[in-house]
Amino acid sequence: MIPGPIGIFDSGYGGLTILSQIRAQMPQYDFLYLGDNARTPYGTRSFEVVYEFTSQAVKKLFEMGCPMVILACNTASAKALRTIQQIDLPKIDPSKRVLGIIRPTVEYLDDITETRHVGILATSGTIKSQSYPLEIKKLFPDITVSGEACPIWVPLVECGEAKSDGADYFVRRHIDNLLAKDDKIDTLILGCTHYPILYDKIRQYTPSHIKVITQGEYVGKSLVNYMERHPEMDRLCTKQGTCRFLTTESGDIFKQYASIFFDEDIQVQSIALK
Ligand code: DGL
Repeated sequence: MIPGPIGIFDSGYGGLTILSQIRAQMPQYDFLYLGDNARTPYGTRSFEVVYEFTSQAVKKLFEMGCPMVILACNTASAKALRTIQQIDLPKIDPSKRVLGIIRPTVEYLDDITETRHVGILATSGTIKSQSYPLEIKKLFPDITVSGEACPIWVPLVECGEAKSDGADYFVRRHIDNLLAKDDKIDTLILGCTHYPILYDKIRQYTPSHIKVITQGEYVGKSLVNYMERHPEMDRLCTKQGTCRFLTTESGDIFKQYASIFFDEDIQVQSIALK
């Protein structure tokens, strides 16, 4: 296989919060980001549709030379990762890899929660999939997990309302709902890539003894560790420190909205997925 960049896929812009943290920990690697902005959001879509769209994106990133793709989207990780790994990958190219971001996020929980009660804030799709409780139970069966779907948080971020006064009501409502389900929660996971943009407000309405966990740092740590354990994959990842961007929307629109998530002047190419 010819070496190439690491593919980072998200339904839209949210994966940029993951990409920044991965690049901070792996600055020497090359990355190719793909946002399916024309079909976002995925959070309210069915399993079948999220799988179909994600599978198309992964194939495109493979075609464009990526030896490995990270699904930097919780909804895609929850609804499509397993099928892509088990059914698609053996047919497309068993030497390539597709990894998600749910497992890396929960791997470190053991050292974080003391009460062993954890809360998940995520899209409706991720919450309905039960992926977080299932992954957590596999690793730490003694942890109790409660979830709350926050369907309006992604639109709030994408409409540039994350810092507005109107956002407070919706942020507070979902945090209160979650804490009412389990008052022993001492750790909140932001299980959607858009939510770090709401971090200040989430922190403001979360009691100070509760830790608020964003994913990027843990995903980066886990990928560094993966490369150390898999030198055969590491050799296939090119390392010149470049980062390119693809979108299914117009490149200009992507650039404009990406600035909410990403403080960098970027070149964006528009592509079609099918
Ligand atoms: N990026 C998605 C996630 O992390 C949220 C956006 C969407 O609904 O497409 O779940």
